[in-house]
Amino acid sequence: MIKLKVNGVTRQHDGDPDMPLLWYLRDELDLKGAKFGCGMGLCGACTVHLNGKPVRSCSTPVSAAANAQVTTIEGLSTDGTHPVQVAWQELDVPQCGYCQAGQIMSACALLAKNPKPNDADIDTAMNGNLCRCGTYLRVRAAIHKAAELTASNATKPATKPAAKSASGAGANLLPRNGGKK
Ligand code: FES
Ligand code: FES
Repeated sequence: MIKLKVNGVTRQHDGDPDMPLLWYLRDELDLKGAKFGCGMGLCGACTVHLNGKPVRSCSTPVSAAANAQVTTIEGLSTDGTHPVQVAWQELDVPQCGYCQAGQIMSACALLAKNPKPNDADIDTAMNGNLCRCGTYLRVRAAIHKAAELTASNATKPATKPAAKSASGAGANLLPRNGGKK
């Protein structure tokens, strides 16, 4: 039996310990935010946090999360007010949306360790998150915006706009640079 915490709730898994974490989250816990893209750790659509670090849940076995904390996009906030979600909404980042939960989870992990990243920091941290719709420039701008919001929220009460759902259809992938002009 594997015990783990998912979005703050204690869970247990009695099945195959080699089951990909993504399968467990989506099929057993009904957390559908993380998406299946490549299944090989190459696209980032399935990104979640394992003890605060971004991991590809398609290629991470549930056993790797034993006694650990897993956070999915559903666990960022209950009302879409996480600064990264707010920034994504304000800059209208998603196109089809399929990659966006993974993009947001990688962005959150970056900002947790680097509250004011520059463009190069962002491009390096987000390099493994592919977007067939080419939203890379908006992703980068939204990360800068989220950094500003986080700094601002530290000194004044947060507003509470609703966040757009980070979901959608379509899973074809282009190289990261394919979306840049
Ligand atoms: S589905 Fe996990 S990295 Fe592509
Ligand atoms: S918005 Fe990224 S794949 Fe469509």
